Amino acid sequence: MSDRKIKLQIKDMTKKYDNGDGVEHINLDVYEGEIVTFLGPSGCGKSTILRTIGGFLDVTSGDITIDGKSIVALPPEKRPTAMVFQSYNLWPHMTIYENLAFGLKLRKIPKKQYDKDIKDMLALVSMSGTEKKYPGQLSGGQQQRIAIARSLLLKPSLLLLDEPFSALDAKIRQQMREELKKIQSDLGITVIFVTHDQEEAMALSHRIVVMNKGKFDQVGTPEEIYDSPQTLHVASFIGEMNFIKQDGKTIAVRPEDLTVLLGSGKGDMDAVVRTTMLMGHYVSMTAQCGENVIKCFVDREISDKLAVGDAISLKIGKHSVFDQ
Ligand SMILES: Nc1ncnc2c1ncn2[C@@H]1O[C@H](COP(=O)(O)OP(=O)(O)OP(=O)(O)O)[C@@H](O)[C@H]1O
Ligand SMILES: [Mg+2]
Repeated sequence: MSDRKIKLQIKDMTKKYDNGDGVEHINLDVYEGEIVTFLGPSGCGKSTILRTIGGFLDVTSGDITIDGKSIVALPPEKRPTAMVFQSYNLWPHMTIYENLAFGLKLRKIPKKQYDKDIKDMLALVSMSGTEKKYPGQLSGGQQQRIAIARSLLLKPSLLLLDEPFSALDAKIRQQMREELKKIQSDLGITVIFVTHDQEEAMALSHRIVVMNKGKFDQVGTPEEIYDSPQTLHVASFIGEMNFIKQDGKTIAVRPEDLTVLLGSGKGDMDAVVRTTMLMGHYVSMTAQCGENVIKCFVDREISDKLAVGDAISLKIGKHSVFDQ
């Protein structure tokens, strides 16, 4: 990791709005060719950080560098970045071709040169032949692909994507994820992606920044974030998690890390079967253990031997412990 080139550096950056909201003391290094995702609940400051990188918001203090050079004094069009915003941002009165050419014209690139780039880029996002259409004649997913194509045409050294798939339905979202990953690795660009969808973050990212109330809770690979959450917020925000209160501590353990044994006195704690629900090849079960209701996944062979009210033991596998 250390021999990799740092593309983006955010150094003790604070952005406060007049009303006091915003983000504080943000520090982050992003390496070349990485997809880093900001993940967190609504209002935690994800778009705020992205906009300060793209140049759509001034920072209150601190610095942001790209390839070692400070960019905070530059307007958006002078930065080596391109941004796709939270909602569609194609101009409805322009054709797809005009939409794609707009930023290139602004940058005074000759038409001869960009004609071929536009054609190639449309092929890259599987939208060849749509040059003469208007945005209104395309589906949401297609429009979003054009918006991404338009930002890629600017050959950004850093691509900023603010919940680009949030308006799409689940299936198209998944396709777009895969396409984005492919485009990113084909072009070798660095991407900062914003989402409040933990599954999307896990699927796409090399590293995830979990945010909470204007601050970073944890920065790590999807595996690190999933396997070793460092705060209760991270533990509760990503994946399914049981929080078991015991002796003034909270034990966080995922349903798949609990083993169910028939009968009492065989595991780390005794419980009784509370509910069972067949999910397909496995059964999702809740068990009552004192005041704790604990969710676990069990194989059908085991659940077939159990009825509601039966005594069981739970063995705790991988887990994290937090002070209450
Ligand atoms: N222009 C603004 N003026 C004042 N406060 C703002 C402004 N924009 C955002 N905020 C506040 O700053 C905080 C962070 O907002 P931001 O838009 O960065 O959140 P977000 O994480 O992108 O949320 P979402 O997932 O809903 O898009 C929020 O409390 C929001 O109300
Ligand atoms: Mg936002």
